[in-house]
Amino acid sequence: MAIQWFPGHMNKAKKAIAERIKNVDMVIEMLDARMPASSENPLLAQLSKGKPKLKILNKQDLADPERTKVWLEHYNSRQDTRAIALDSSETGAHGKITQACRAMIPHRQGIEKPLRVLICGIPNVGKSTLINGMIGKKSAKTGNEPGITKAEQRLFLADDFWLYDTPGMLWPKIIVEEGGYNLAAGGAVGRNALDEEEVALELLDYLRRHYLALLQERYQADKDPSSHWDDTSWLEWIAK
Ligand code: G4P
Repeated sequence: MAIQWFPGHMNKAKKAIAERIKNVDMVIEMLDARMPASSENPLLAQLSKGKPKLKILNKQDLADPERTKVWLEHYNSRQDTRAIALDSSETGAHGKITQACRAMIPHRQGIEKPLRVLICGIPNVGKSTLINGMIGKKSAKTGNEPGITKAEQRLFLADDFWLYDTPGMLWPKIIVEEGGYNLAAGGAVGRNALDEEEVALELLDYLRRHYLALLQERYQADKDPSSHWDDTSWLEWIAK
């Protein structure tokens, strides 16, 4: 069954973004480095047409470094787009982001012409963690329940660097079924919109095909027989 999740507060977020985007110089889109394509919001692409974009591949510590490299090259080859990989709790994340933004829009500086940046991302991508680190205190709420940041907020990272934070947002129709499962497995989808067992089995199918050795190591599965297990046997083993 395809996964869809676009509750009312996301429609509100969409409207707020559409309004705000008119008056910003660039857009940061936070992606999940474990699934850049699945976490890239087509609705945001539409709303932010013509604006320079910085893609942050977050949670790089949890992602396959080889794949991350390929994705960075892919995004950096796009016109008007730059991409960096990040672990949002790392020290120096703030500097990396502001530097990248300033390099993209060098003519916006000084109090008269502040750099105005909108930051967006799917729920649970790590946006609050990043912003808390950037402003140095617990202001943006963090948590495991997707969609927790409700209102837009403007943050002054410097006199001439304004960051507009927006709530985590998905899009009305997730067309690629695998993308929906990826989003669900990554914690971007509300629990009421998914069947956890189905999502776990889809995830296991992917991990078994691409990262069998890591799966065996993580769950101390016996290498020889477990390499022949199907997804259900894996799920039972992990549950036990
Ligand atoms: P959001 O605002 O985009 O919805 O996401 P939020 O910052 O609340 O982060 C969601 C979860 O992802 C949090 O874990 C957070 O710690 C974790 N996270 C954020 N960035 C990174 C990263 O770069 N690497 C890793 N490994 N994890 C990251 P949680 O378990 O829900 O909360 P907590 O127990 O960490 O407080």
